[in-house]
Amino acid sequence: MAQVRFDAVRKVYPNGFVGVAGASFEVVDGELLVLVGPSGCGKSTLLRMVAGLEAISDGTLTIGDRVVNDVAPKDRDIAMVFQSYALYPHMSVAENLAFGLKLRGQSKSEIAARVTEAAQMLELDQVLDRKPGQLSGGQRQRVALGRALVRQPQVFLLDEPLSNLDAKLRSGMRVEIARLHRKLGTTMIYVTHDQIEAMTLGQRIVVLKDGRIQQIDTPMALYERPANLFVATFLGSPAMNVLRGRLERDGRSWTLEAGDEVSLALGEAEFPPDWAGREVDLGIRPEHLLPAAAGAASLAPVVEVVEPVGSEVFANLRLGRHALIARLPPDRVPVPGETLPLSIPSGRVHAFDVGTGERLVPRA
Ligand SMILES: Nc1ncnc2c1ncn2[C@@H]1O[C@H](COP(=O)(O)OP(=O)(O)O)[C@@H](O)[C@H]1O
Ligand SMILES: [Mg+2]
Repeated sequence: MAQVRFDAVRKVYPNGFVGVAGASFEVVDGELLVLVGPSGCGKSTLLRMVAGLEAISDGTLTIGDRVVNDVAPKDRDIAMVFQSYALYPHMSVAENLAFGLKLRGQSKSEIAARVTEAAQMLELDQVLDRKPGQLSGGQRQRVALGRALVRQPQVFLLDEPLSNLDAKLRSGMRVEIARLHRKLGTTMIYVTHDQIEAMTLGQRIVVLKDGRIQQIDTPMALYERPANLFVATFLGSPAMNVLRGRLERDGRSWTLEAGDEVSLALGEAEFPPDWAGREVDLGIRPEHLLPAAAGAASLAPVVEVVEPVGSEVFANLRLGRHALIARLPPDRVPVPGETLPLSIPSGRVHAFDVGTGERLVPRA
């Protein structure tokens, strides 16, 4: 087992494109850390640098207590699982699992023991004689995982391993991977573009955008205190509502003047007095728009489209020129065209700088 440390690690591709612009963070020994961000943000580049498949342009990468910048992939004691399973089609499941160990010259008895153990762990023991073509997508993915497992590496690297599976299988495999991690306790770095996968699987999450780290924290901390507008709107489904407007203060009560005579009552928000008159992007999560009595409403948008999903109702709303979405309890399904009085619980709004997108934090 080992920790993985990035110190100002950069990747500049031969064409001059900066894939990763100075990443510094540590994956703790035994941790399951998720790298998440939109396609092209540099997730695979980071992971491939750990694997040794991509040269490091600058900075220091450490696995355990060894700097590995110039260590060959086969000597790094890592195992990687890719989105494309890359199984050998002419080999049986057992042979696929054993192949890497054979190459490394492990003894026959050791190979047999490890293959049996991995097959049991991944419930592949009934299909060891089959070829990959005779397996379901989920089983193929488990063989790909098993091939990494038998190596007993210090660090597991997983690059979008579930992207080829359908939604139902994906959520099942997600739980299996979390279970596997708990059982093995091995350091894992897991790459995904799927924010739900990141939130449910990661003990901590690194959010990336354009080759730059935006924030590193636990899933709930990222959700409750996003460092900037990108993190705020990337994590969470439906995404956080954002309204640009001007903060105004009346005694201890605040409002957001959001144009076209749209005014949101924010109650006693904990903003410093000198934010009065300030232009902000105000973020409100869909679950923080709550049905209210007409007299006690913070806002009263018009219902446009309703999506009842059973356990809850998503209401797409119009407030002046702003489109909003509320996640409502299913007991009363609103009707398109009606005006819906809503309130915002105190302390549940997020304010961001309109220039930089950074979270605005009251000075202590
Ligand atoms: N060999 C390469 N040469 C130039 N640019 C590359 C190369 N490989 C990847 N890139 C670019 O680097 C960026 C990050 O790629 P990648 O790490 O694969 O993103 P992700 O895995 O987050 O989707 C992308 O814009 C991609 O086009
Ligand atoms: Mg990728």
